[in-house]
Amino acid sequence: MYQILKKEVLNPTVTLMEIDAPMVARKAEPGQFIILRADEEGERIPLTIADYNREKGTVTIIYQIVGATTEALNHLEEGDSLHDFVGPLGRATETEGKKKVAVVGGGVGCAIAYPVVKKFHEQGAEVHAIVGFRNKDLVILEDEFRANSSKLFLMSDDGSCGEKGLVTDALKRLIDSGEKYDEVITIGPLIMMKFVSKLTKEYGIKTVASMNPVMVDGTGMCGGCRLSVGGKTKFACVDGPEFDAHEVDFDEAMERSTMYRPFERKAHEETCN
Ligand code: FES
Repeated sequence: MYQILKKEVLNPTVTLMEIDAPMVARKAEPGQFIILRADEEGERIPLTIADYNREKGTVTIIYQIVGATTEALNHLEEGDSLHDFVGPLGRATETEGKKKVAVVGGGVGCAIAYPVVKKFHEQGAEVHAIVGFRNKDLVILEDEFRANSSKLFLMSDDGSCGEKGLVTDALKRLIDSGEKYDEVITIGPLIMMKFVSKLTKEYGIKTVASMNPVMVDGTGMCGGCRLSVGGKTKFACVDGPEFDAHEVDFDEAMERSTMYRPFERKAHEETCN
């Protein structure tokens, strides 16, 4: 059993949990995910590792309450335990050998962007963190990004925090001002990653997209995370979750990602009632 050591509400729909999981913490790297089951009867869901502490033996997860399982997970409190917590799974972000990068995160995807930023920073790379949220109430991990990046660019749709505008506005301005990035890493809503990718393609900057948002069970069996990458079929949970963003067919991914929404909504309503 994997005890919940800390539970913190980050915004109205996003919660952080620190889990006692020494075996997972020992090997965890940014970009990887775990699969958990809240209880014996529960559905297995993949969640990307938001942080880890090898000395304490803990792994941090951050989840958005979107369906029945995340709602059930959210009913657990500090001191309770998760039934299963398996990982780390998936390929880790390649951070070696890069001197200067921009990590572009959006919304709850910033939970996945954060350990990537932190790892680059620890390795001595110059890392620009560009993070975007709809408004100030939805901002997560601002202090953590500030402490673990060379510079933080906080954007909001309505201007209620940071600068009003899109993450692509900040990225374009930085590139136009002469910043030279070895790589851009983007993690967040598919539509945001699509436009980050479109922008960096124009400038010829290598870009990696984390396709976690399309994963369903994380086991390679449900087929929910099927993508077209460079004209070939790939599975985010088995072949990724990170891919060359310029090769990903984001339009197809966006179309497919809406398929499960009615089921998620119905299951969520049943859990809440
Ligand atoms: Fe089910 Fe990848 S998430 S096959």
